[in-house]
Amino acid sequence: MKILVLHGPNLNLLGLREPDVYGRETLESIMERLVGVAASLSVDLVCRQSNHEGELVSHIQNARTEGFDGIVLNPAAYTHTSIAIRDAIKGSGMPCVEIHLSNTHARESFRQKSLTAGVCVGQVQGFGGYGYVLALEGLIAHLKAGSA
Ligand code: DQA
Repeated sequence: MKILVLHGPNLNLLGLREPDVYGRETLESIMERLVGVAASLSVDLVCRQSNHEGELVSHIQNARTEGFDGIVLNPAAYTHTSIAIRDAIKGSGMPCVEIHLSNTHARESFRQKSLTAGVCVGQVQGFGGYGYVLALEGLIAHLKAGSA
């Protein structure tokens, strides 16, 4: 099984960026833990981050031909604005799990709507970096149930 973990804008700044909201863990350290979890489950993991909407769309579009079985996606601010990313997920037919470090429902009202969650298998939020482990496990369980 091969999974793509895709991070949207500003997530490269984790650790420095609003630590009261997102914690002090860096993206690198979150991904290091996730790669370890994936390896223990015999899953191949590829992690990518982009600050650009079109680049995220292209990663989603190309995921199938690159051999990925599913995507763990934190669209970051594009969650709340991007019809293009929503359409890319839907159009690709790739099983996708949305993840957010913070609990967006406990924050500003403009964060309480996700344009992307409705075309995802499910959503995890509010558990900080550990949420990526929950999202990965959920996606793997979903893929295994589909192929059973
Ligand atoms: C985020 C939540 C978004 O509202 C915000 O724009 C982010 C990070 C999260 O992981 O909590 O950049 O996706």
